[in-house]
Amino acid sequence: MTNKFRYFIANWKMYGDLNSLKSINKVIKFAKLYNKKRFRLVYCPPYTLLHAFSTKLKKSPLSVGAQNCHVESEYGAFTGNINAKMIKNLGSKFIILGHSENRANGDTDEVINKKINSALKQKLIVIFCIGETLFQKKRKQTNKIIKKQIIKGLKGLKKNSRIIIAYEPVWSIGTGIIPKNYELDRNIKFINAVVKKNTKFKKFKILYGGSVNSKNIQSLNTINSLDGYLIGGASQNAKKLIDIVKKTYN
Ligand code: PGA
Repeated sequence: MTNKFRYFIANWKMYGDLNSLKSINKVIKFAKLYNKKRFRLVYCPPYTLLHAFSTKLKKSPLSVGAQNCHVESEYGAFTGNINAKMIKNLGSKFIILGHSENRANGDTDEVINKKINSALKQKLIVIFCIGETLFQKKRKQTNKIIKKQIIKGLKGLKKNSRIIIAYEPVWSIGTGIIPKNYELDRNIKFINAVVKKNTKFKKFKILYGGSVNSKNIQSLNTINSLDGYLIGGASQNAKKLIDIVKKTYN
């Protein structure tokens, strides 16, 4: 249980169609009734649903974000792609960048840095994902990897950049396995120190992502340095998502 303000970012990945919109009615109702000042819930559906979500959530306490964008900030001949300008135009306020599933698809730290810049140009709030793979963890490279991702990904950004960092160990995503609390606390402190030393940011939020569910949320909430969660699988089910938020405060 906590009284701290928390972010809950619902990452729907490549799931959902127009019928799924009905499933969020319960969450909208819940968020209106619940003390909305204590948390911010952001739905990040696939591109195809961004407009429908932002229309539906317009008068609600919930916000909308995208899951990725093309590096180019201006319109251009990039078949099959969508840029930050288009995402902003569809009513999104947030964007997830650097997710490990996109890093695995070829997004380098340099590409992610360019994407972040194009998203910030559109005044989107960036949820910047970092995290080590199991291979790297086993070789005790976690700190090295996280440090590199932060330094290269956030290179050159201004003091007041709208960045939220999401620590997502790749081995926790979709596996049901989460880090031990001491391990997570240690890594969050390390991230905090690296960001302070290598960027101009004074204040920033740090989220945790990877197999967050209504069973492990209470234990995760004991980590006071966390500002919220990036939730994949569990966020597609309204009841599970509501449970996660409720168990954070009760
Ligand atoms: P998960 O996904 O909650 O299903 O592990 C988290 C994410 O990939 O952002």
